[in-house]
Amino acid sequence: MKRIGVIGAGLMGAGIAQVAAQSGFDVTLMDVETRFLDKGLSTIEKNLKRTVEKGKLSQPDADAIRGRIHGVLSLAEAANGVDVIIEAVIEKMALKKDVYSELDQHAPAHAIFASNTSALSVTEMAAVTTRPEKFIGMHFFNPVPVMKLVEVISGIATSNETVAAIKELSNKMGKTAIEVQEAPGFVVNRILVPMITEAIFVLQEGLASASEIDEGMKLGANHPMGPLALADLVGLDTLLNVQQHLYEEFGDPKYRPPGLLKKMVRAGRLGRKSGRGFYDYGS
Ligand code: CAA
Ligand code: NAD
Repeated sequence: MKRIGVIGAGLMGAGIAQVAAQSGFDVTLMDVETRFLDKGLSTIEKNLKRTVEKGKLSQPDADAIRGRIHGVLSLAEAANGVDVIIEAVIEKMALKKDVYSELDQHAPAHAIFASNTSALSVTEMAAVTTRPEKFIGMHFFNPVPVMKLVEVISGIATSNETVAAIKELSNKMGKTAIEVQEAPGFVVNRILVPMITEAIFVLQEGLASASEIDEGMKLGANHPMGPLALADLVGLDTLLNVQQHLYEEFGDPKYRPPGLLKKMVRAGRLGRKSGRGFYDYGS
């Protein structure tokens, strides 16, 4: 594997592209509009600059990493000559299927398709392509340059060769992979998202303030950040999409999204990425 296409230059796509380039791969990073692509590329540049300033990376190495990332605005260009495509577009099944049916026409026959979906069915996405055995979930965690885990998720038709190739790629990217069979939310989000949901219900019921809830979980459960700050980091729109999917798939009321979260997303308060969520981040 030499060349990786990353689809979507948002929070996750930018992080994945950065880590792939740091690991020596040529990366084509794609988004639908110049402003989204530029935002992703400037996040990568800021991260690299910060690492150089800390003395953890030399300037020539940072320049070489940046030089391995090429921004493009079409799926055809993103798929050209790649060995693997890692997709990180918005958490909506219909959108992901559109993206995959187009990518399938342009990508080389040997290319593996890996979705960074947080919760959705890999099998359903694979079904719109001609390569379901080369289709897999490759679930990174936010912030990608820091978090060590990748969940490697097999759909109904994913081959053992594809699993082995993506586990090897995860290792080359400095991550530890765990193998998971497909189910809504896989392993980590199945456990983590209900905890965040419960924190939002606690806030909604007025039992404590956001900062007290977060302080409670940091000091009382040793979490690196509180669940509401974590929700803001993930993105409240993404979190709501995951909750809705878990609720629809399992039909269990324990997964129901809190009204407060729906209201915040409807107001455009999406967390850090929009400047406001449970906390205010300025412009
Ligand atoms: N991008 C790149 N690097 C980042 C970063 C970012 N967004 N945020 C922090 N870092 C780096 C810092 O530069 C710093 O690096 P050095 O050690 O080299 O100096 C390091 O991470 C630690 O950062 P800070 O000292 O600023 O802050 P911290 O110690 O509080 O750590 C944190 C920040 C890593 C985010 C930590 O609070 C944490 O681990 N939080 C929990 C994150 C988590 O649970 N993520 C999973 C979300 S769920 C998910 O991703 C799945 C899904 O499908 C929704
Ligand atoms: P985001 O909103 O930050 O970024 C999504 C990007 O996809 C945007 O830049 C958007 O312009 C782009 N996009 C939309 N339609 C597109 C298309 N047709 N082609 C190419 N790009 C398109 O979202 P994110 O947080 O980066 O999430 C991306 C994926 O990663 C989702 O499936 C999400 O569930 C998953 N994920 C998110 C997190 C997290 O903590 N945010 C963690 C793990 C996995």
